[in-house]
Amino acid sequence: MLYGADYNPDQWPEEVWDDDVRLMREAGVNVVSLGIFAWSRIQPAEGVWDFAWLDTVIEKLHAGGIQVNLATATASPPPWVSATYPETLPADESGASFWPGSRQHFAPSSPVYRRLAGELVRRLAERYAQHPAVTMWHVGNEFGCHLPMDFSDAARDAYRGWLQGRYETIDALNDAWGTSFWSQRYGGFDEIFPPRLAPYSHNPSSMLDWRRFSSDMLLECYLMERGILLAAGATQPITTNFMGPFKPADYAKWAPHMDVIADDCYPDPANPNRIRDAAFQRDLVRSLKPGVPWILMEQATDAVNWRPSNPGKRPGVLAAETAQSVGRGADGIMFFQWRQSRAGSEKFHSAMLPHAGTDTATWRSVTDLGARLGALPALPAPGRDARVAVVFDWENWWAIEGRDHPVEIDYLALVLEWYGALHKRGIMVDIVAPERIDGGYDLVLAPALYLLRDAGAAALNRFVDGGGTLLTGPFSDIVDEHDQFRDGGFVTQLGPALGIRFEDFGALGGASTGGMGVGAQVARVGTIAGGRVDFSVGGVEATGSLVAEVVHPAGAEVVASFTSGAAAGSPALTRHMYGSGEAWYVATMPDAAGIDAVVGALVAASGVRPIIDDLPAGLEVARRGDLVTVINHGDATVEVGLEGTDAETGAAVVLRALAPQEVLFAWAPVDAEPQTPEAFPEDASVLLAGRKP
Ligand code: GLA
Repeated sequence: MLYGADYNPDQWPEEVWDDDVRLMREAGVNVVSLGIFAWSRIQPAEGVWDFAWLDTVIEKLHAGGIQVNLATATASPPPWVSATYPETLPADESGASFWPGSRQHFAPSSPVYRRLAGELVRRLAERYAQHPAVTMWHVGNEFGCHLPMDFSDAARDAYRGWLQGRYETIDALNDAWGTSFWSQRYGGFDEIFPPRLAPYSHNPSSMLDWRRFSSDMLLECYLMERGILLAAGATQPITTNFMGPFKPADYAKWAPHMDVIADDCYPDPANPNRIRDAAFQRDLVRSLKPGVPWILMEQATDAVNWRPSNPGKRPGVLAAETAQSVGRGADGIMFFQWRQSRAGSEKFHSAMLPHAGTDTATWRSVTDLGARLGALPALPAPGRDARVAVVFDWENWWAIEGRDHPVEIDYLALVLEWYGALHKRGIMVDIVAPERIDGGYDLVLAPALYLLRDAGAAALNRFVDGGGTLLTGPFSDIVDEHDQFRDGGFVTQLGPALGIRFEDFGALGGASTGGMGVGAQVARVGTIAGGRVDFSVGGVEATGSLVAEVVHPAGAEVVASFTSGAAAGSPALTRHMYGSGEAWYVATMPDAAGIDAVVGALVAASGVRPIIDDLPAGLEVARRGDLVTVINHGDATVEVGLEGTDAETGAAVVLRALAPQEVLFAWAPVDAEPQTPEAFPEDASVLLAGRKP
């Protein structure tokens, strides 16, 4: 288990470095991400290089037995770069420059930026690739975090080349973008601009390509650096830190280029769905590279500095959140950052070593956690532990949240609601693109899959045909990969499997704010009252929002119909036996009760079993091979039944009372599940004797 943090010794005088290494050892730290923002220290002026300080730091760490995840330091160009080469600066939609003074002020497609960054990486790689302390490479930092899209002239030129590479001829682009609409037909690639400020909606197909391009430019920067590292003979794993479900970068496309997935996760203490959302993030990053444990590259020991209000973590929360990562596949737990900064924008951000020193609750929880993680036995690689998948797709995300739709949809929020109903049941879930669906899953939820590529549709159809249970809808299978309607109406790819015919979207208004284009801005003209429709599933009264689509059965059984509103009488939920499996369609976005009822029906239909039956509220459970992790995130002590062995103490487990924030790591082979209370030995109460109330 890796344990450590970002280490920024360039912010501190040399006298501090020995103390750092000593305290790192005390905390159980065995790895640091070194020098992520050190470019100006390494190269204070063009042609001037200073590696002496870095040599010293690396030697000290090495002598202390601490591995180095060496950063390429390219995320924040030094002032001389911006002053000498203003063409490296990015621009916003109106073409106005972003200026230096913060970080990430580089245009990813700028050839000059890439040349300068490449030179830095080459020097670092040649100097340190063979150093025994360097065990991993950390490329850039959170690509696109502050500046996901760049509209500069460098981007314009790169965009034209990227489009030419994608379409080859301008006619092919015109077809893909549907440019006969609004006189947008292009005569050549040099007539195309980034989607800068325009009077009204940009062409939606072009916006989708712009999103792809913007993600690709960041990926190209990563790949350029990776290529330089490899060319210099680096054999260590190479990675960069993801940010979970980060809309601007299609991580499914990035993942094959990572040797190990690294992720940054800062659960918001004020978010009532903090546990669910973080679990989703961890399942997402694990699913990006099955079979390879991932690294939690950054989390906070306590408060962050960048939310409007920044409360700290309650006692025990750090360990509980960490266990969630371990249980869901992480083999590394790291923080931003090692020593709290004394200057700069992040001086109020917590760290492993607080500014107040070691006689602090934070230091004690950090050292306790280090000891606990260090004592864990080797854990199995996270493999195909999930029999359930939730489809999550970046291109769909970009397209479904485009403008000019029947209804505004927050795709991530919607997916999280469906995921939540599985998570609270203690069912292990993979989060994958539709193309990744195969017969290894029993149940697949593909909510709001508006953009469905041919290959994704084929995989979903194969899955159902082969015996799987699929749920999709609403607003699914509407457009192709160019964000164009397909010929033949809607639900053209999945219609036969679903056994329905789709007639109309039935937008209800929803919680969105209405608007109309006025000049350059969208003028808000007030909130549209959210329409609602009612239906009942398995005896549960549910309400739907967003849409009450008009769908007709064409072979499907109607499981539930709308009971109110204009759509009354029309199907709300359908089920169709197809091949050896079945496909369900939900024609609205159900409320929590509705989602729960639908998921309950799907779980029953598919035969999927939770890790622990009847998981008590407040508990979270995850499986990682034979390791089962149970965490009590609630405020009360809860009993959990699980037959296995405590992975930390070796003691037998049958029934365990978990105090708030308490974590149980237990060996419980898959064959032994599911655990039902009836399976407990009669004398289980004996084992509970003496437990705390
Ligand atoms: C991100 C960055 C770090 C730091 C932290 C603060 O994760 O990668 O450099 O800014 O946020 O939370």
